[in-house]
Amino acid sequence: MPIITEIEDLKRLYKRRVPRMFYDYAETGSWTGQTFRENSSDFDEIRLRQRVAVDMAGRSTASQMAGQDCTMPVALAPVGLCGMQSADGEIKAARAAEKFGVPFTLSTMSICSIEDVAEHTSKPFWFQVYTLKDDDFMRRLFDRAKAAKCSALVITVDLQVLGQRHKDLKNGLSAPPKLTPSSILNLATKVPWGLEMLQTKRRFFGNIVGHAKGVTNPSSLSTWTAESFDPSLDWDRIREFRKWWDGPVILKGILDAEDAKKALDVGADAIVVSNHGGRQLDGALSSIRTLPKIMDAVGDKIEVHLDSGIRSGQDVLKALALGAKGTMIGRAFVYGLGAMGEAGVTRALEVIHKELDITMALCGERNVKDLGRHNLLLPADFADRWR
Ligand code: GLV
Repeated sequence: MPIITEIEDLKRLYKRRVPRMFYDYAETGSWTGQTFRENSSDFDEIRLRQRVAVDMAGRSTASQMAGQDCTMPVALAPVGLCGMQSADGEIKAARAAEKFGVPFTLSTMSICSIEDVAEHTSKPFWFQVYTLKDDDFMRRLFDRAKAAKCSALVITVDLQVLGQRHKDLKNGLSAPPKLTPSSILNLATKVPWGLEMLQTKRRFFGNIVGHAKGVTNPSSLSTWTAESFDPSLDWDRIREFRKWWDGPVILKGILDAEDAKKALDVGADAIVVSNHGGRQLDGALSSIRTLPKIMDAVGDKIEVHLDSGIRSGQDVLKALALGAKGTMIGRAFVYGLGAMGEAGVTRALEVIHKELDITMALCGERNVKDLGRHNLLLPADFADRWR
């Protein structure tokens, strides 16, 4: 077993093991990648305030997200195509999250279906919805999530149209991968991945194929999103979805204080401050930079989570200290999944947990719930540089 001390170690193993098409899918932003890069580099602008001679015994990272107890306030974000990063990937990630005690979010664009994941786990997970034009499909999707006892609904509000990611188009991204001379050459170097993949029947978009009408090429992500996603999604429609679901509703993809107020207005229980990992609007601000203004606007009225750019427990701590109640990780767990399956996701969670715990201690805090602005040192114009 290789020695893994940081998320970057998992990323190196992941890159070696998984076909280039799926590595590129995860490890990319839209257009120039500016927002993708700044999501991480903006965390580096924030410094931590060291405190000493504080009793550090009996620390706790336990918290709640959307009413659910968690070992640490870090949920697994909805990520499409996990079942292509590792065979049955969504089931593996859900199991790792369940054992670790953090929420797992299943994406509409998953390979394993809602029913598959429910059958192979024992605790409720969260389900993420994309809005498709096919209204019957949407109703059935909600019913399927209810029948699977999903404990929260995460509605993604920043992907009515797909941001352009050059590499996905150039690689001809599809699930399962199309065999072309260049993909065959690359697959030939990924034998362990391929052997695992041959042993599972789950190789298509499990929530879509056989369920959605009018999808002519459901293996191509760019084709079926362009054909099926509802570009007319608006706040009224989101309000309607709110009514369809009895449990907590989390709106993911809020990056502006005005939109945060609208989320509150339609009755969301929580929001995720997110720019979709820099995969949608390139040129948008990083999530962490937008967090302070969103906290000022709605922080005392709604639960705020943050994703995009988190690669360490220190990043988690910075988001919590700026006021987020919880965080989500996407790529950080995908690296682990691609590298080592379920064990890799567990390792990613362990790495982040340890970094969070030790950083918290060195900042002089014993409880994750006590973190606050007093633990940070920020450039004076951190939240105001662009106006
Ligand atoms: C889908 O959510 C994607 O970002 O590819």
